Amino acid sequence: MRRVVVVSNRVSLPEKKSGQAGGLATAVAPLLQAEGGLWFGWSGKVHEEAEDQPLGFAQAGRVRYATFDLSPAEHEGYYNNYANGVLWPLLHSMPELMRFSRADLAVFEAVNARFADLLEPVLAPDDLVWVHDYHLFLLPRELRERGVENPVGFFLHIPFPAPDIFALLPNGADLLEAVLSADLIGFQTEADLLNFAAAAESLLGARRRETTRLLWAGREITLGVFPAEIDARAFAERAAAAAATAPVERLRRSLAGQSLILGVDRLDPSKGLVQRLEGYRRFLETSPAWQRRVTFLQIAPLSREKVASYQALRRELLMMAGQIDAELGDPDWTPLRVLTRGESRATVAGYMRLAQVGLVTPLRDGMNLVAKEFVAAQDPDDPGVLVLSRFAGAARQLEAALLVNPTDPDSIAEAIGRALAMDRRERQRRWRVLWEGLVDRTPEEWGRDFLHTLERVAARRSGAELGPLSGGRSAPFGAVRPALAPGLFFSRSSNAVN
Ligand code: G6P
Repeated sequence: MRRVVVVSNRVSLPEKKSGQAGGLATAVAPLLQAEGGLWFGWSGKVHEEAEDQPLGFAQAGRVRYATFDLSPAEHEGYYNNYANGVLWPLLHSMPELMRFSRADLAVFEAVNARFADLLEPVLAPDDLVWVHDYHLFLLPRELRERGVENPVGFFLHIPFPAPDIFALLPNGADLLEAVLSADLIGFQTEADLLNFAAAAESLLGARRRETTRLLWAGREITLGVFPAEIDARAFAERAAAAAATAPVERLRRSLAGQSLILGVDRLDPSKGLVQRLEGYRRFLETSPAWQRRVTFLQIAPLSREKVASYQALRRELLMMAGQIDAELGDPDWTPLRVLTRGESRATVAGYMRLAQVGLVTPLRDGMNLVAKEFVAAQDPDDPGVLVLSRFAGAARQLEAALLVNPTDPDSIAEAIGRALAMDRRERQRRWRVLWEGLVDRTPEEWGRDFLHTLERVAARRSGAELGPLSGGRSAPFGAVRPALAPGLFFSRSSNAVN
């Protein structure tokens, strides 16, 4: 394969061994380590002189890293306010949390342009450019405007909402136009793809050819479904090895025979943490026989701490947690433990293996790799039970979990009771189905699927001589490529998508 250039806001730099990088880094890092290539993006650093500084380079194994810092104004307007204060809530169908301002949008646009200014000189003509996630929606167009003709793919790790919700975004049409400068646009689920295509039709007047092709501005853009994966076998080994380590052993001893319910999420409004805690409270109130026999450990590392909705959630959650312990606990029993710092991935894997119940109940989630990791971490002989939101992308592949509506705390309470009471045979039966759905897939394959599709799509583009790529801004509709078989560009691993 040609050299792969991954572009993302968050770069998992080799010196940072944090386990809290989120789904994007979990999915991308193994691919780049296997294929080699360049990972380009923000260093994670913020300081006043950032805008005058050149790229910094590092190398680890087969991966070269090229990163740059952000100024405080860029970090605020681009990352905190627009990417995480507007796009994140809107794309998770939570428009009431969105705080839009044109000033923030201008910074977002300028930072996307800066990504392109810095990236263009380090690209070689043969590179495959793979842009990741909502922070960089405008980058494909910025690259084309700088004359970059390389294959450019874009993958959205988070959901795409129904078109009437997306239409609330004041610059929605422009954002769609910009991302349509890519050759291939990938989504976690078919529902996201269909929502995106419908928004492009209604806001831009793009035309659809079958499910996976959009015609816009004289070009054809391919859409595809590529559900992000984990390396389930490697994670299972990691969990088994971690079970004997000191932190996991300490947690086991502290439980003194109680059943462990576990949640692991960034402290984020999309994760349904308030409803989850309320569900646990109702479970304890309606099932008094379980009191003193369970502990719920919620690991919720702080995330995006400058964003107002995250600050409000933190206050609300910690208040609820205090109330649950104060009102339902005993001098010798703490029903709920909430930790706002992160743990290493190995330790979390060990905690998962120890847990009888895993609660993964986001209000909406692109995929949610924690759900997949929980399954992989279990002891096949005595597995724990996954309680999973219907609105996580992972639910399409993990139907043998106990699926809940995360907005309904009673549904979470019932599922906790059912999970704790489930006999071993049913747990084993459900776990086996879940495991078999995960075990033959890897993040490397996920990435190769996307990149091979990108190569094919871009080869057709150059063969079809469709005119200049930079014609993205409202050029007239023109010639299109010959028709392809419908569904051709659905990823192999999308078979599980219903
Ligand atoms: C999600 C997003 C990623 C992001 C991660 C962590 O997984 O899809 O793009 O990197 O959350 O969030 P952060 O804001 O810390 O990068």
